[in-house]
Amino acid sequence: MLTLAVETSCDETSIALYSDEEGIISSLTLSQARIHSEFGGVVPELSAREHVRNILYIFDEVLKKAETVKGLDDIDFISFTLTPGLILSLVVGVAFAKAVAFALKKPLVPVHHLEGHIYSIFYDKKGLEYPFLSLIISGGHTEIVLVEDFSKYKTIGTTLDDAVGESFDKVAKMLGLGYPGGPLIERLAMKGKEVYKLPKPLIKENNLNFSFSGLKTAVKVLLEKERNLRKEDVALSFQKIITEILIEKTRRAVEMTGIKRLAIVGGVSANKYIREEFSRWAFGEGVEVKIPPLSMSTDNAIMIAIAGIERFKRGIKADYDINPEPNIPLELFAKEWS
Ligand code: KG4
Ligand code: ZN
Repeated sequence: MLTLAVETSCDETSIALYSDEEGIISSLTLSQARIHSEFGGVVPELSAREHVRNILYIFDEVLKKAETVKGLDDIDFISFTLTPGLILSLVVGVAFAKAVAFALKKPLVPVHHLEGHIYSIFYDKKGLEYPFLSLIISGGHTEIVLVEDFSKYKTIGTTLDDAVGESFDKVAKMLGLGYPGGPLIERLAMKGKEVYKLPKPLIKENNLNFSFSGLKTAVKVLLEKERNLRKEDVALSFQKIITEILIEKTRRAVEMTGIKRLAIVGGVSANKYIREEFSRWAFGEGVEVKIPPLSMSTDNAIMIAIAGIERFKRGIKADYDINPEPNIPLELFAKEWS
């Protein structure tokens, strides 16, 4: 079973040809980081234009790379990200997916972007046994999802304000580093020391929710107050406190659910310090932890293909007049498309 998958929900244009039996046939992801860097975050209108500019080129490259193995005729269906995301960016991928499906007379299978992240751990077919917990840490989301089975989700923790990746991006902007902030802070933190004690909002509350805006404000106050600080030390102190918060809330989720299988997915899970600290903690607690390879932590179409295949196997498909939505919650999407 072969799917062509399309992902354009934020600032990566990504297309993949993915087979249920053989895995990745070919794929290409183009990041728009350079375009948004001077603004310290994604500019929706610029993002949409870049998707339009690049999507055909990417499609062509993916087909060329697969040429000797698979072609358009072999595609069984088209998977695409329907929601959530920047609406202008989603529109490009959805219109493209519809056009290809219509031209090839193939089914269209909608995928929820977070579901894509959740299923990124199945890149090796093994994934994790159900039920498992998925910590989704990205630029738009910070969620702990209890995955009982395919498309059976319960969001048991979420952020009350900024997403964790967003706080990396905002702190990086304050430090004058550019966008995306996560990798830039990670690099800087390698040369830093833990000098500053930053707050851990909501950490004492007995629930699974996160809050990162207070932490961002604390960094802002620190930068205004201290003239001679080293950016490296701020980066390290910030990254360390974020990691402690994520681990503490995850520990509580494991305790509350009794589930000792954990996926860590989304762009922020590309952070090596976070990966190492989580792995160390999980080993100590006897928690089985699975983190996708770096290229599949950040947005990509392969994860959309993996989830799309599961949906297609269950007979789920959309009409050709389907339209993107900026924010359908995961549980609602699962109910509508089951
Ligand atoms: O999953 P993703 O590619 O897009 C969304 O769905 O949001 O995540 C992007 C986010 C950005 O906020 C970026 O700064 C963050 O992931 N990120 C990182 C790292 N690489 C990307 N954060 C921390 N450390 C990293 N190495
Ligand atoms: Zn994402």
